[in-house]
Amino acid sequence: MRAPAIIFLVYWSLSAGAPSAPAADSCVTCHSALEEAEGAKGPAALIKNDVHIAHGLSCADCHGGDRTSDNPDVSMSKAKGFKGKPARTAIPKFCASCHSKPDVMRKFAPAERVDQYELYQTSIHGKRLAAGDTNVATCIDCHSVHDIRPVKDGMSPVHPLHVAETCARCHSDKRKMAPYKIPTNQFEEYRTSVHWEAMTKRGDLSAPSCASCHGNHGAKPPQVESVAAVCGTCHVTFEELYEKSVHKAVFSGVGGGGGCIVCHSNHAIHQPSTAMLVGPNAVCSGCHDAGTAPAQTAAQMAAWIDGLDGALKQSETVLARAEEYGMEVSEAQVRLIDGRENLVKSRLALHAIDPGEMRKPIDAGMAIAKETLAAGQAALREKDFRRWGLALSVILIGIAILAIRFLIRRVETNGKQQGPL
Ligand code: HEC
Ligand code: HEC
Ligand code: HEC
Ligand code: HEC
Ligand code: HEC
Ligand code: HEC
Ligand code: HEC
Ligand code: HEC
Ligand code: HEC
Repeated sequence: MRAPAIIFLVYWSLSAGAPSAPAADSCVTCHSALEEAEGAKGPAALIKNDVHIAHGLSCADCHGGDRTSDNPDVSMSKAKGFKGKPARTAIPKFCASCHSKPDVMRKFAPAERVDQYELYQTSIHGKRLAAGDTNVATCIDCHSVHDIRPVKDGMSPVHPLHVAETCARCHSDKRKMAPYKIPTNQFEEYRTSVHWEAMTKRGDLSAPSCASCHGNHGAKPPQVESVAAVCGTCHVTFEELYEKSVHKAVFSGVGGGGGCIVCHSNHAIHQPSTAMLVGPNAVCSGCHDAGTAPAQTAAQMAAWIDGLDGALKQSETVLARAEEYGMEVSEAQVRLIDGRENLVKSRLALHAIDPGEMRKPIDAGMAIAKETLAAGQAALREKDFRRWGLALSVILIGIAILAIRFLIRRVETNGKQQGPL
């Protein structure tokens, strides 16, 4: 192996360069020199962005050993507590040697959580690792190693914008996941979702990524009860209404999942529309045959939503036309916002699967649609009236001008005829 020769060379050059005083941190000094010889790809080259180094920690704080000695036989000796490279199965405990200790962590970051290892052990990842399966994620698969960044750093692999890619490194890898017989399409599907769009296209970091729904450290397989709960943690009012619905009781037994995901799915959550209620892709028709009472309810709900949506759009068009003609319709346009709010409320109320819940916002919205349409039409009539008025006055003025010119001409010709006399 090359290593002993390198050790010797580096040791020799270090001791030749500074024979009296040992390097401030021999681990960094020696490994930096080593890496330069190897093309600078190792720990010492990476470490410049590491949160640990930024907090004054160094190689020996994780790996043990004696950083004051230039002699590798001393600095990296068992006698000096050197641990070397931890085995893959030992990594969580290795990190936990600080991150589970409140007294250690408090000195650096008083508010930092110290439950990552504890939670990790409850996750599928943690449980499988404990059983010797090294394919699962350990701390360093999600956080990297030697260039571990603060989690809020935009370059961190666990930053909301990067989490999905980090999980996908394994979960989209068919070969890696084959032994477990679970799907590998989560990232692919998630990338088509409203959540991915909100996050990446609109920069809404409050939209969920993989870890928001599965947990950062307790990445346990989602349980039936926690599935609806996870959507409800953000979509609170939807959950409240869903809890009232007839489906609440029956869905908890559906397909091992239940809750919101029965209708919306979990990873490929698309923009909802009435196509979920009626038509060839309706989710309701998966369970309720055409002609049954629930199917009729679904059709009714769709008709209400589409009806209100259409009525509001009509008002909007008429008001926009009136505005183009310079008519004053701002009051009606403000009312229209209330109308759209009722449309939103009716889509929300749908979740109680009780037409009675929807009636109120639908009726209120329709009333506003009617009222604003009338206002728009009145403005257009007023515009027409003014136009006709204007046209009429232009014609009258035209006639008057012609008449005056005619008169002037008459006076002039009369004058000319009289002239030579
Ligand atoms: C004088 C040079 C030198 C010093 C000082 C030194 N190392 Fe090393 N270290 C090496 C060399 C060379 C290797 C072997 C590299 C290889 O096998 O590819 C190594 C290997 C390692 C490894 C990997 C061990 C394994 O199990 O694979 C770790 C971790 C490590 N050093 C950490 C440290 C720490 C921490 C310190 C300071 C306490 C330190 N080193 C000081 C030269 C040095
Ligand atoms: C936050 C803790 C931490 C710090 C600080 C740290 N290491 Fe490591 N180091 C690890 C872990 C964990 C591994 C195991 C990585 C793996 O399994 O791929 C490792 C692996 C290594 C290896 C073996 C690499 C390999 O691929 O075989 C070397 C060499 C090493 N570290 C040297 C260093 C040096 C030098 C420093 C300081 C510049 C340092 N480490 C700082 C945690 C740390
Ligand atoms: C499956 C991926 C994954 C694994 C495995 C993992 N983490 Fe994390 N970790 C995350 C994510 C995601 C965050 C949250 C980032 C955020 O808040 O935006 C995080 C946050 C953290 C934080 C910041 C404080 C906190 O709890 O939010 C620390 C410290 C941390 N992890 C340490 C660890 C340690 C130690 C281990 C191993 C025992 C570990 N992580 C294993 C993904 C992981
Ligand atoms: C020697 C003690 C020690 C060890 C061992 C250690 N850490 Fe840390 N870690 C710290 C300290 C101190 C901080 C800085 C304070 C903070 O921000 O939490 C930190 C910060 C972090 C952060 C950033 C947290 C944040 O809030 O942004 C992550 C992520 C992290 N460590 C992961 C790891 C991983 C993964 C390992 C194992 C490879 C590990 N740490 C090993 C002490 C340690
Ligand atoms: C290093 C590879 C790797 C990384 C990175 C990784 N995982 Fe895993 N994960 C696995 C393996 C392997 C399993 C075991 C599969 C099983 O038992 O079904 C697993 C299991 C899971 C399970 C349980 C699946 C089930 O129902 O059986 C969930 C949920 C999960 N991971 C979520 C995540 C999330 C979220 C992330 C990112 C924050 C992530 N994983 C990152 C490898 C990884
Ligand atoms: C909006 C919440 C949410 C997001 C975001 C999310 N998941 Fe899931 N995931 C779920 C739910 C709920 C289930 C349970 C499905 C079931 O029980 O039928 C699940 C199931 C899984 C499973 C088990 C196998 C499977 O496909 O059913 C894995 C693995 C998984 N998710 C990984 C991921 C990864 C990787 C990401 C990011 C690319 C991700 N999830 C994003 C909610 C989410
Ligand atoms: C971490 C918070 C969070 C979680 C958990 C969450 N969502 Fe979302 N969801 C959001 C955000 C933020 C948006 C974007 C809101 C927007 O577009 O105005 C969104 C958008 C949506 C939309 C589109 C709404 C619209 O008006 O366009 C649907 C449908 C949806 N989520 C369903 C779900 C379902 C089902 C689950 C559970 C599997 C879930 N969400 C879990 C935060 C979350
Ligand atoms: C029985 C099927 C079903 C269940 C269960 C269900 N939804 Fe919906 N959801 C729908 C339908 C249908 C729409 C579309 C209404 C429309 O736009 O016409 C919708 C729309 C939405 C919207 C978008 C509203 C908007 O303003 O565009 C969100 C967000 C949402 N659902 C979240 C949830 C959450 C969270 C849960 C669980 C607590 C849930 N849904 C459970 C059928 C369901
Ligand atoms: C996964 C299957 C499933 C899906 C999808 C589903 N339902 Fe249901 N629904 C049921 C079951 C089971 C019941 C309770 C048994 C019954 O009364 O038929 C029920 C009951 C109902 C009832 C009450 C019937 C009564 O007589 O009290 C209505 C209304 C209803 N569903 C409407 C809908 C609508 C609207 C959708 C689509 C947005 C929908 N369902 C989607 C399974 C489903």
